[in-house]
Amino acid sequence: MIQKTPIAILISGRGSNMRALIEACERPDYPARIALVLSNRPDAAGLEVARAAGLQTIAIDHKSFGKDREAHEHKVDAAIRASGAEIVCLAGYMRVLTPFLVNTWEGRMLNIHPSLLPAFPGLHTHEAALTAGAKEHGCTVHLVTSGVDEGPVLGQARVPVLANDTFDTLAARVLEEEHRLYPEVLQKYLVTKHI
Ligand code: GRF
Repeated sequence: MIQKTPIAILISGRGSNMRALIEACERPDYPARIALVLSNRPDAAGLEVARAAGLQTIAIDHKSFGKDREAHEHKVDAAIRASGAEIVCLAGYMRVLTPFLVNTWEGRMLNIHPSLLPAFPGLHTHEAALTAGAKEHGCTVHLVTSGVDEGPVLGQARVPVLANDTFDTLAARVLEEEHRLYPEVLQKYLVTKHI
């Protein structure tokens, strides 16, 4: 039996990348298992998906902490630790992190971003790619560092931008690649890091 590293997945919304990771983790030969799915939004649709898959979930509403981002992150960090997770996968977690959480999980926190970083960091990447006339677009899995969407790249997947693309068609083509890329990169990361 392969040794499975416990991971926590942090979400804020629909959780389709989380679902791709859940499916991967269900494979006996996949080197991770999900110890916790955590959302900063109690109404995140992905929480229901995770519960239906029998996973431990927790919502820690950032709104209860007002402007104190670090106080929220201390609770998030405590929940991750309590779950026994050794790696954190951000999957549509829509919070800018403070140095506290970034430094605590340095080298052990991954994120997926819907562009070919360093191109188009931040939000609205598909609109930005189309507006810029990019011929190619895609997604990136990277380690999280203090700069937003700036950490070392672990893997990328590319898609062509087609002449008749809208934001939505382009987003859908990228998302399909995200679902393939994230589990694949996490697997490689765990195997090569020997975590
Ligand atoms: C994805 O496009 C991901 O790259 C970005 O946020 C979106 C989350 O979608 N960080 P989902 O919640 O995984 O469906």
